[in-house]
Parts: sequence; C-alpha cells; structure tokens
Amino acid sequence: MSGPVRAIAPGRVVLLGDHTDYVGGLVLPMAIDLHTEVTGTPGGRSVSLRSEQFDEPVAFDLPVDDPAAVRPEWGRYVAGVAAEFDPAVGLVGSVRSTVPPGGGLSSSAALELAVALALGSEDDPLTLARRCQRAERVATGVPCGIMDQLCSASGVAGHALLIDCATEEATPVPVPEDLAVWVVESGEPRRLADSAYATRRAEAEAAAELLGPLRDATPAAIESLESAVLRRRARHVRSECDRVRWLAGALADGDLTTAGELVVDSHRSLRDDAEVSTGTLDLLVDSLLARSDVLGARLTGAGFGGTVVALCRPDADLTGAGAGGRRVRAADGARQV
Ligand code: GLA
Repeated sequence: MSGPVRAIAPGRVVLLGDHTDYVGGLVLPMAIDLHTEVTGTPGGRSVSLRSEQFDEPVAFDLPVDDPAAVRPEWGRYVAGVAAEFDPAVGLVGSVRSTVPPGGGLSSSAALELAVALALGSEDDPLTLARRCQRAERVATGVPCGIMDQLCSASGVAGHALLIDCATEEATPVPVPEDLAVWVVESGEPRRLADSAYATRRAEAEAAAELLGPLRDATPAAIESLESAVLRRRARHVRSECDRVRWLAGALADGDLTTAGELVVDSHRSLRDDAEVSTGTLDLLVDSLLARSDVLGARLTGAGFGGTVVALCRPDADLTGAGAGGRRVRAADGARQV
C-alpha cells in the first residue's frame, strides 16, 4: 500500500465563449483560485470519500458498473471517474472544496480532476481532460464539451486560456494587472440546465450539419437557414467565436474598454440567440453595468441560472452584489501535491 495522496483542481470562470465548445468553437476561460482538494490513502477495492460540502459520504466498490446509479448524487462524478480510470486500488479519504456546487464555476470538473489525480492518473493535461469529460458524460448523461475539464487541467496563474475546441489546443493569454475579475452569484439555482443544455447542443449541431463549422459560417449562409431557431444558434456561435478572438487581442493590448464591450455583447447573444439566460441573470447583469467600476458583465458557463462574471476596475468591490460577489484570480491547473 502506498502513502497518502493529495490532489488539487481549480474551478473556472468563462470570460467569453459559452455554448461554442461542443461545436468546435473558441473559448476563453480562466482557471480560478477556488479549488477542490482530495486527500486520502490508496488501498483496498473500494472508494470511500466524505465531503465538507455534502452531508452524505460516497462509498462504492471497484470496479464500478453503473456510475449514473450511484447515490448520493455528487458521488456520480467520483464513480464516473473511477469507471473511466479503473484504478488498481481504491481510496479512503475526503474532499474539501471552495468551488460553490452547481453555481456555474465548474465544481464538477474540479471534483473529477482532483479525484482522477488522487486515484493515481499520470495522464498529460489533455488526456486527463478528455477522460474526465467522458466520466462526466457517463455519470450525468449531460453531453458536455471539453472546455471545463481542459481549463482545470491546463490553467496557468495570471492567465486566461484561449482554447480552440476543434484542435483542443490551449494558449495562455495574460490577464492585465489592472483588470479585476469578479464572480457574482445570482442566487438562482440552475433549473432544467441538463435537458436544455442537451437541446442547445443538438440545435447547434444541426446548424453545423447544414453549414459546416459555425465559427467560419458567413452571415449570408446563416441567414439562409430555413429554421429561425437554427439561425439564432448559428449566429451565436459565429459571433461568440469572433468575440473570443477579439477579447484575446484586447487583453494582450490592455484595451479594457473594448474587453468590457465584448463581454456585454456576449451576454446579449447568450440571451437573444443562444437563449440560455434568465430574467434574474439579465437583471443582475444590468445592475452591474450601471456601476462605473464595472467594464462589462455576462452570464458565465451553461446559464439557466448560476453565476455572472464581471470585468472590473481594480478598486471595484462587488462583495454585496447579487447573492454575493467575490474577486477571483487566475490560477494554475490541476496537480498532485
Ligand atoms: C458547461 C459545459 C461546457 C460548456 C459550457 C457552456 O459548463 O460543461 O462544456 O459547454 O457549459 O459554454
């Protein structure tokens, strides 16, 4: 039996580029200084973990047949990872996390990566991300893209990541020192997120079937689509990918005004074309945009409730905004420690 293990994986905030990863789009997330830590002792043929965030512990024997049937629900992510990585020995330990569960900051990817590393994965970051993405799909049935896991695996302190989801290549983009990134909870739980997410993905894929890669689709081709719904989904992906490129350039140039405007445009596109916002998120974004210390704000992640990200001047204090705000800083990716 080997000695104790400890692994850490960060959550992420998406600065720009939502609902594009699953059709090979561009995204610009940032791994953050909220993270999940798994500590434990390897051995035996079962996995047993307690979490400070949930009352019920998770415990199951290896190998796992049906991760989606594991209870309590948070244990499905653990079981999905155990099924995917099929470790030679089990683990008894605990989970501590500062990533709020279900809030749009990728608590699930952080848990998956930390568990995979604690179970002994020695995969490179891309392979680790792909395997954890597979684990999440198996565990939850949600057809997620690669962004969350790849961001948590590849984060670089002080940087956001420009990820091309067609090639799965991640390029660090420095976050200017005079830009403060805040996450503000809406207080609205993500309702129907799973089924609506799958529908959005299917619609974007249907548009891509007709037009080819949506990030390259011309406005004329998009407007020629017969279905108004597919037109909107295609318009969102095309414009969001353009904005991701422009934001990466604006951050590199330290052009914070343009950065803020791009983020505001992104929220409009997520609201009107992707249709993944809610009245609560829209009101929260509007109330943040009314402040002089906020450069731009948008929903972040899958939407349908959850969290808003705000790009702010350095002296901004959004602690009391929405259901609570907090400043986040760009952090390193998942690792054994
Ligand atoms: C969730 C998924 C990601 C991505 C975002 C929306 O976080 O896990 O793959 O699709 O939603 O951008």
